[in-house]
Amino acid sequence: MTRKRFQSVAEKVAHDNSRLAVARGESAVTAIQDGISIELAPNARLRGRYANRHGLIAGATGSGKTVTLQTLAEGFSKIGVPVFLADVKGDIAGLATGPSPVQFLDCYGKQGSPLRVSIAAMGPAVLSRALGLSDVQSSVVDIAFAYAAAERLPLESIRDFRQVLGKLLAHREAISATLGQVSPVSIGVIQRALLRLSSAVSIFEPPGFDPATLLGTRDGKGLVSILAADELIKTPDVYATVLLWLLSDLFDRLPEVGDLDRPRLVFIFDESHLLFDNCPPALLQRIEQIIRLVRSKGVGVYFATQSPADIPSTVAGQLGNRIQHALRAATGKDAKEIRAAAESLPRNPALNAAELIATMAPGQALVSLIGPTGTPQPCELARIHAPTCKLGAISNEERAKHFAAAPGAKPRPVSRWRYAQAVFAIVAGWAGAGLVLFAGAGLGFYGLRAAWRLMF
Ligand SMILES: Nc1ncnc2c1ncn2[C@@H]1O[C@H](COP(=O)(O)OP(=O)(O)O)[C@@H](O)[C@H]1O
Ligand SMILES: [Mg+2]
Repeated sequence: MTRKRFQSVAEKVAHDNSRLAVARGESAVTAIQDGISIELAPNARLRGRYANRHGLIAGATGSGKTVTLQTLAEGFSKIGVPVFLADVKGDIAGLATGPSPVQFLDCYGKQGSPLRVSIAAMGPAVLSRALGLSDVQSSVVDIAFAYAAAERLPLESIRDFRQVLGKLLAHREAISATLGQVSPVSIGVIQRALLRLSSAVSIFEPPGFDPATLLGTRDGKGLVSILAADELIKTPDVYATVLLWLLSDLFDRLPEVGDLDRPRLVFIFDESHLLFDNCPPALLQRIEQIIRLVRSKGVGVYFATQSPADIPSTVAGQLGNRIQHALRAATGKDAKEIRAAAESLPRNPALNAAELIATMAPGQALVSLIGPTGTPQPCELARIHAPTCKLGAISNEERAKHFAAAPGAKPRPVSRWRYAQAVFAIVAGWAGAGLVLFAGAGLGFYGLRAAWRLMF
């Protein structure tokens, strides 16, 4: 008998693991007896019951994160769980070619049904973050919101917000006495920050998007909502802001549900380091709180990022299901990150996690999922199944199909200008019809009279 040759340490460990599993009498069938689950790899099952314990998908570029997100999304959809994901590079869109019902969303309304947020819905804290304001400047935003509420001023679009700021400046003496100090300098900074945000202006427009439309199912399959974010990601703060708003709004609306056999919704943050870069402490606290509490509302949150170190420890500590793809070891700092990533996984004495993380092939991962007893299992080397759908981007035609047919898709919002055009068209239409009738009647009368005269 010839000895089996392995190309990498990773393959050898995978082979040994599967032999061990067979020796222990485990098989795919016995493994699912503790409830509904998703098979991510022959030796890795994500239990529906614990899918609301959140998760982390980490790895270098090209290591297989996006493909894993697609496999996860298809798996959740198959068991009837709706999924929301943001598509930063356009390569998640391939999901639309698979078996899951897909709806495309786009903040700019070009590549999907429009997802727009009113300034009021976004709230002062999240808006201040999008504008990159200091504490003092943020407090002026708080005052602007309080003032708009007290004076019943509209706060839908950026234009509305500018007008409120204008009034704040004009009446700052009186306002300072009741609501707090408002300095013209701060207002100037906010106005300039709003100008910088002008590329994102169309996001902050009525009508708002109802995050509850993410909760749909179709023929028992969970709806997969894909936010086209290639444009949005160019303003990272706004990207983070929109996603945070969605999660935060769902959190505020959804009721407590206790233990479910599978989540009500799974929310996937790709490039999630952007959520935490320059994140003010108050907002970080809010994120931590949402992640901690949204679990009992049946929502699972999955963060995808390059290195686990991108996620603050207070949040990372709450991520129960972990999929670590390969990291590259080019510099000393990388080596340190690899060690840290290995240490963040529940230890498996049978394998050298750090060595595997540095050598795994694309699609391979060290996986530690919550086990039948509700605790994270030791990490195992796994080869993640490829999804049923096409990998990579899709054509505009393919995308358009899901754009138009999207369940829960709303018609394109009507801007004030288009509204005025429509009103003008209707008025002009009626006037024209009236004119034609009038002229027709006149002509008819003239004709009849002429005929009468000719005959008699
Ligand atoms: N589970 C997998 N099965 C088969 N091929 C995979 C798998 N994961 C990754 N690959 C291959 O590796 C490539 C890069 O994966 P990708 O998910 O885009 O990496 P990342 O998102 O981490 O940059 C894919 O295009 C695909 O060819
Ligand atoms: Mg990717």
